[in-house]
Amino acid sequence: MVDDIVLTAPLFAGLDDETATALAEAMKPVEALRGDVLFHEGDPGDRLYVIREGKIKLGRRSNDGRENLLAILGPGEMFGELSLFDPGPRTATASVVADAVVMELAHAELVAWLKDTPSVAGHLLQALARRLRRTNEALADLVFSDVPGRVAKALLDLSTRFGEPVDEGVRVAHDLTQEELAQLVGASRETVNKALADFAARGWVRREGRAVVLLDLDRLERRAR
Ligand code: CMP
Repeated sequence: MVDDIVLTAPLFAGLDDETATALAEAMKPVEALRGDVLFHEGDPGDRLYVIREGKIKLGRRSNDGRENLLAILGPGEMFGELSLFDPGPRTATASVVADAVVMELAHAELVAWLKDTPSVAGHLLQALARRLRRTNEALADLVFSDVPGRVAKALLDLSTRFGEPVDEGVRVAHDLTQEELAQLVGASRETVNKALADFAARGWVRREGRAVVLLDLDRLERRAR
């Protein structure tokens, strides 16, 4: 059975229902638990993935062992395609943050699909361009924004994908530990913690373990600018 959420991935954009379903059926579901690693940075890559359930983090490790998270992805998002378009090793490690089911497609199979349905290529390019925009923005934030600003932005970004409306605002079950949140923001755990405690003291957020309730979106948005 093919889930609607999988069909929202850029891979399927612009395909008619029949073609999209046929492509989705060529993919193999893989179940993975929190902490599992789907592949490591530097591995040879021969397949890409679309997330059906759960959350995946993409991270890189420095020579001295520090980790930086490039992205947290959720249902309907795709990863593992760079090593196809630019043949070479995996550019990041993909690990499971919340128990996941991912749909796997061999690069070779995608290449065959691209030959038959070239419109898929345009949508994949658009997805890559969108990612480059986001990465440029994150790079500029690292240079120009302070840590609280980056924390506010990360929470808002996570809320667009993992947020659900509740009476008081938006609850974001990000499933990240404090360490992972710090790696996503590119700062130490202590500094990120301090920013979150300050937001909580101001009544902008409430922390609930691996979730956070955003209580004042306006103030957070202003802080993120
Ligand atoms: P690949 O290099 O095959 O394996 C790691 C994957 O992480 C990569 O493909 C992309 O799908 C994904 N990735 C790499 N950099 C980023 C980024 N800056 N933002 C989101 N995803 C990324």
